[in-house]
Amino acid sequence: MHIIKLGGSVITAKGRYRTFMQKATSRIIEEIAQIKDQIIIVHGGGSFGHILAHRYGIPGKLDSKKLAGFSRIHMDMLDLNSRVCSIIDDKIGPCISMPAAVMMSDFEEKASEFTYRNVLPVFFGDVYIDGERIGIISGDRIMSRLAAEFKPERAIFFTDVDGIYTSNPRTDRNAKLLKELEGDVRTSINREDVTGGMAGKIDEMRKMARSGTEVFIINGRKPERIHQIGKPFFKGTVIR
Ligand code: IPE
Repeated sequence: MHIIKLGGSVITAKGRYRTFMQKATSRIIEEIAQIKDQIIIVHGGGSFGHILAHRYGIPGKLDSKKLAGFSRIHMDMLDLNSRVCSIIDDKIGPCISMPAAVMMSDFEEKASEFTYRNVLPVFFGDVYIDGERIGIISGDRIMSRLAAEFKPERAIFFTDVDGIYTSNPRTDRNAKLLKELEGDVRTSINREDVTGGMAGKIDEMRKMARSGTEVFIINGRKPERIHQIGKPFFKGTVIR
């Protein structure tokens, strides 16, 4: 199995509320369509999720203002998910939207009911209610839960940079792309500086690698690099 995340910064214009990058998303999905293996896709929120989450102070303690935000963000995410799903349906085949908000505790089990029927589950980062809190489950966290359940051969993350760098490549000319990272070794990454919202993700990725899934970070604007996996000229980062 392959589990694949389409980062919000690739499928949306991050600073512009609800701006979908149709072409970029199609290009990635066309490359994914060539994979001859069972697939689960997860996508992020980008400007369909983070802008309102910030405005409504979500995650945070549940109150009437946040409930209004919860509803709006979930609707925006459903809208984004439906746009992604229609491309998947067109280029890959039957798929199904998997809103984590309504099945936080057992989405792994639900996913296997669909993969069994060759229907591709499409998850997304989502809002959820947990007791007196409104939370956000990121696409990365969903990837990590799916990896723990399905033990996929590969987890692939399409992001807006080439991979994981030693420091922020946008501000540091000496930043170096790390071709390979090990699941259980601490590298000297300056966590504050790593770009693409990468810092928080690295721990989840390493966890996946330690349990036997090879993790790849690939630039979503160069999705054809997915076919370089396993070749010496692969451009991206692999964590194993
Ligand atoms: C965020 O998901 C979802 C919401 C804010 C509701 P992610 O955290 O996975 O999204 P990106 O990939 O960073 O945009």
